[in-house]
Amino acid sequence: MYGAVAAVKDLSLTVRRGEFLTILGPSGSGKTTALMLLAGFVPPTKGDIVIAGRSVAAVPAYRRDQGIVFQSYALFPHLTVRRNLEFPLEMRGIKAAERVTQVDRMLERVHLGDFGDRMPSQLSGGQQQRVALARALIADPPILLLDEPLGALDRNLREQMQVELKNLHKEFGKTTICVTHDQEEALTLSDRIVVMRTGRIEQTDTPEALYDRPTTRFVATFLGEANIIENPDFKVESNAAPPPGTVAMIRPERICVTGPAAPKRVDADQRQSVQGAVSDMIYAGPQRKYHVRVGSSVLIVREHVASGQQIFRPGDDVRLDWLRSDVRFVTT
Ligand SMILES: Nc1ncnc2c1ncn2[C@@H]1O[C@H](COP(=O)(O)OP(=O)(O)OP(=O)(O)O)[C@@H](O)[C@H]1O
Ligand SMILES: [Mg+2]
Repeated sequence: MYGAVAAVKDLSLTVRRGEFLTILGPSGSGKTTALMLLAGFVPPTKGDIVIAGRSVAAVPAYRRDQGIVFQSYALFPHLTVRRNLEFPLEMRGIKAAERVTQVDRMLERVHLGDFGDRMPSQLSGGQQQRVALARALIADPPILLLDEPLGALDRNLREQMQVELKNLHKEFGKTTICVTHDQEEALTLSDRIVVMRTGRIEQTDTPEALYDRPTTRFVATFLGEANIIENPDFKVESNAAPPPGTVAMIRPERICVTGPAAPKRVDADQRQSVQGAVSDMIYAGPQRKYHVRVGSSVLIVREHVASGQQIFRPGDDVRLDWLRSDVRFVTT
């Protein structure tokens, strides 16, 4: 609680040793607060935090063995890169000569060997981000806490740094808890993802499971595009009966589009097919997206562009079909 604001509610989470866990959610959903609770900068109003069997809820942040990258990566602006990296070692009472050795080694590891004597303001955003990561890693803490560590970077650099972050995780094997609002980043980096919404955990799962089997409408639509089929004029067929209080969901790439009289597929008995009319076609490089009106519903269909494929235009009649096993049910 921040005064009367409950930024995080009923958070219960077990992090496995060595895993890369991402906390994903929209702005204001409580991600930073959750991380600051774990780090010890914000005391929990209720509950406990246990690391390796020991309660640390009352242990202040500076006493904990953890490396942190803050949302604004907060390097000390008046210290050189080298001095920034030395700081956590100094805090742990490591002698000057040993500090130099360790800093040199770390600078090499994050490809900043030539930058040790620069001030943070003389570095690009990506280089600063790497210094922040290096500073979090240098004292070899068992736990790494990262708050939007790639937030300030443009798309290309971001993707490059995602690979580096992944390699660092492989190489150092630290238990890593990373906060992001970027779905793709979470899917790429994580062993597991925690999806947060208004201070609560919505679902925790592997990237594949979250994308393929979301349990709530929020998760389904937050992680990628989803057809939520509400009150359709056709019955959505499925292999299992829909649980009460749920609505059918199918991913756009799971739906196939063909001409209305195209021959049936070999696995037609496992599919549902419906007739519709294209209301929109959006071309996006390697993908094509259709909006198809089926009765009073509009379904989104996404297909990879391939040669020899039939292209449909707005107004064309089409048939859509999908495997009954690809239908999911999400709570609303
Ligand atoms: N010190 C504070 N005092 C009062 N309310 C706060 C404080 N810090 C955060 N909040 C509120 O708590 C909620 C969660 O904030 P938090 O910073 O954890 O969100 P976030 O998920 O990290 O968002 P973002 O993606 O924008 O960084 C927000 O509604 C925010 O306004
Ligand atoms: Mg935040």
